[in-house]
Amino acid sequence: MTEHARDWNKSSWQNRPALQQPNWPDKMKYDEVLSNLSTLPPLVFAGEIRALKQMLAKAVTGDAFLLQGGDCSEEFTNCTAPRIRETLKVLLQMAVILTYAGGKPVVKVGRIAGQYAKPRSSDTEIVDGVEIPSYRGDMANSAEPIPEARIPDPERMLKGYYLSAATLNLLRAFTRGGFAALHRVQAWNQEFVKQSPMGRSYERLARQISQALDFMETIGISTDIPQMNQAQFFTSHEALFLGYEESLTREDSTTGGWYDCSAHMLWIGDRTRQIDGAHIEFLRGVLNPLGMKIGPKYELADILAIIERLNPDNEPGRMTLITRFGAKGIEKFLPPLIRGVKKAGFHVVWSCDPMHANTFTAASGPKTRNFDDILSELRCFFELHWSEGTVPGGVHFELTGENVTECIGGARQLADEQLNLNYLTTCDPRLNAEQSLEMAFQIAEMIRR
Ligand code: PEP
Ligand code: CO
Repeated sequence: MTEHARDWNKSSWQNRPALQQPNWPDKMKYDEVLSNLSTLPPLVFAGEIRALKQMLAKAVTGDAFLLQGGDCSEEFTNCTAPRIRETLKVLLQMAVILTYAGGKPVVKVGRIAGQYAKPRSSDTEIVDGVEIPSYRGDMANSAEPIPEARIPDPERMLKGYYLSAATLNLLRAFTRGGFAALHRVQAWNQEFVKQSPMGRSYERLARQISQALDFMETIGISTDIPQMNQAQFFTSHEALFLGYEESLTREDSTTGGWYDCSAHMLWIGDRTRQIDGAHIEFLRGVLNPLGMKIGPKYELADILAIIERLNPDNEPGRMTLITRFGAKGIEKFLPPLIRGVKKAGFHVVWSCDPMHANTFTAASGPKTRNFDDILSELRCFFELHWSEGTVPGGVHFELTGENVTECIGGARQLADEQLNLNYLTTCDPRLNAEQSLEMAFQIAEMIRR
């Protein structure tokens, strides 16, 4: 087991500069909320976190593949059974496609049950000519574009905790209680997707799986085993609001290690990964698997120093590097990073976030992403890793199970003018269910190469 990080405690980050924190106006209320949170039960357990790390260790060597995805920013008002179910469904469908067509076990990690805190490029924004504080996620303020709604309220962290607990409770019920059973693969197909080419491809694949299961039953092999009837599903979010994360950090009574029990996996955003900053200080001491976003402005020396600090024992499964360079930037920025990390001998999961550097403003107004750019960054990601002799081990998406119109392109050729039909995100544009399945079929082909 990893020895406990030297000179670290769950509050040691407080001596370092912490970027991207809301400006909580009521300090007393803030402290009160955090002290309340620190007495509430953990959301996830150390044993589950260790299980995820072991599975991620397999993605380092290419013996498993990481699928991570969900909303850019979860919303409190979307904490409902249908919405949670639809997100879970599309991720399970994608995982089935990747497992069956791609031929690899898939590690399923949602951006869910706590993805309520957002970094922003600017502290304020101009709405109708008025400058107001930026929206920083439902755990800080409201997305409603009026000045009062944008004042950070610490009570929102408490609400975020309870809604994360409610979301997790339903996810656990769905994944353990039969909903995720493999013989239900056909039943997961969403109504609006069924009629589409992707829906039909999925139907075909699901039918093949059902036939294989029937065949096993017929010849007397029991399919009544946990692997068939339950899915292992994990949660993740960006570890951004450090007061919240600290309050949910607990010492595991069986091993004495410290775990951030707000989610199984946590990631560090591209904007908060300063080597001497508070986020790195906090995360180096918790034993969860960690993701790190890396965008085009990275310095190789920094990245290597951060990996060394976060994973001094070079434990496989601890670090996932989530690169986001854009379709236009990936060929320039990924190869030197791969070479540097490889030369240093670090064991990492290489994952691709093909969303965050492919965002642009559509002619019709909203922020969007083009399906072809996303796919093109993914293709380059696989090809560059193959040619460098490293393992493309995972993907990271912003997606939803709903029939939204936020990203253009895909099999239905969603056009710029159609974006406003059902544009619901409060933050970044997500793939809808049909676009997500299409993406999964494409990735499956790359995996099985
Ligand atoms: C995100 O994943 O929503 C995000 C803000 O990413 P990044 O840190 O890569 O900009
Ligand atoms: Co985003």
